[in-house]
Amino acid sequence: MAKITFITDTHYYSKTLGCEGEAYMLRSDSDQKCLGETDEIITSAFEHIKKTDCDAVAIIGDISNDGERVSHEEFRQRLYNLKKDKKICLITATHDWCCDENPRRFDGDKVYNDVPVMASDELYDFYSDFGFGDAVSSYKTHIGTYSYAVDIGDNITLLALNDDKNEVNHAGFVPEHFEWIKEQVKSAIKRGRVPVAMEHHPLYPHISPLLKGSCVAKGMEFLDALADAGLQFIFVGHTHIQRIDEHISPNGNRIFEINVASLVGYPAPMVTFSVDDNEFSVTTEFLKEFTMNGKTVDAQKYLKSHAEKLLSVVFDSADDKKMLKKRLTALGINPKKIIDNYLIIKPLLNYIHNLDIKKAGRIINAFTFGKAVPKSSVNTYSHKKVLDIVVEVFLSALDGSINKYGVNHEYYKLVQGAVSTPYRIGKKLRLNEKTVNTLKMLYEATDEILTGGKWDNHNLIIKRG
Ligand SMILES: [Fe+2]
Ligand SMILES: [Fe+2]
Repeated sequence: MAKITFITDTHYYSKTLGCEGEAYMLRSDSDQKCLGETDEIITSAFEHIKKTDCDAVAIIGDISNDGERVSHEEFRQRLYNLKKDKKICLITATHDWCCDENPRRFDGDKVYNDVPVMASDELYDFYSDFGFGDAVSSYKTHIGTYSYAVDIGDNITLLALNDDKNEVNHAGFVPEHFEWIKEQVKSAIKRGRVPVAMEHHPLYPHISPLLKGSCVAKGMEFLDALADAGLQFIFVGHTHIQRIDEHISPNGNRIFEINVASLVGYPAPMVTFSVDDNEFSVTTEFLKEFTMNGKTVDAQKYLKSHAEKLLSVVFDSADDKKMLKKRLTALGINPKKIIDNYLIIKPLLNYIHNLDIKKAGRIINAFTFGKAVPKSSVNTYSHKKVLDIVVEVFLSALDGSINKYGVNHEYYKLVQGAVSTPYRIGKKLRLNEKTVNTLKMLYEATDEILTGGKWDNHNLIIKRG
């Protein structure tokens, strides 16, 4: 029996980069994950993992905030500490060498870019004590990063795959790299071991193909080929959402892709995979608490309220034109059009901010001749605001639908009634096919979030055949 605990997207942020002042506040509030608290969260998670019986800890990339040298150095110290009790295998990803070339530190209301960063070809040596060094085989990519295979416990071979760049600069693998990966899967099986892979970017479009844009090129083709080679489990990160999905290749081979959410944002999961003679199992734990300034903090409450802020700050700034502009810019939204039309935008934001379900239901049903949202659903949730529900659905996407709603639940009918309205109208107005399809995918995505999809997104037991 072997056991690996997967964590990902630790985005370690050194406090020396600034944790105070307006510039930091704008940056921190515009991110679902925490920034200034990463040390406390990671340290508490490592302390927790130390006490568990896993054979190894695997980290699926984006280990530093944005490739800052100081963040890597501090994070590596935490790894050396964890290594006293646990074997560690990690891969790096694009945030570990600052692929956006926009490293930042924050001081007062100023942002500075004079932050030394790590280059992609330095990472292998820097982290050689954490998996690379024990590899049974490794592959050097054209940007100087590595994929490697390492044996864990008595029956698992972990394939740690670096998919930062393919031949056209997209996340993925060049053909030679992919051949090496298939060989490792087959070689592990030949040696009587269970191959399990991790790579940073998902191959499968979890929740919706609408999210696929940022992930691996030809992801499904890779997934087919990996399933056909004999791989049954692959763990990924990047999206910061928790999800388990299956994929069956045209040849009938099944593979599960487990998307692990960020450790430093809600819901801070630690996902353990184990193999014994009879079954494969995946179990998910969420970080319960962390210590900050000597006090114990309820991690789930803290992380949840931080994630909620991401949506609320814009509406909260509606009456302050200057702040609204700063908030939008921090979120990566070009504020020009919105600020140019501030006289219209301000009352609109305030209207949406205060819009309750009763009023919204009436509006939607006026457009759809009473067909979209049942009265019973509106009455059940009339006490809520629209934004409350938007936040709940967002959190549910992150946490792998801890709260599930079947298709007959009033909550499901309410949300889907509202989300399907643009699609219904788009179809009636005969908008172009691409737009109508996108609108359809939107309500298919919310269906996936509300119901939780086919599989439990936290726990899975599969009999070995
Ligand atoms: Fe990330
Ligand atoms: Fe990422």
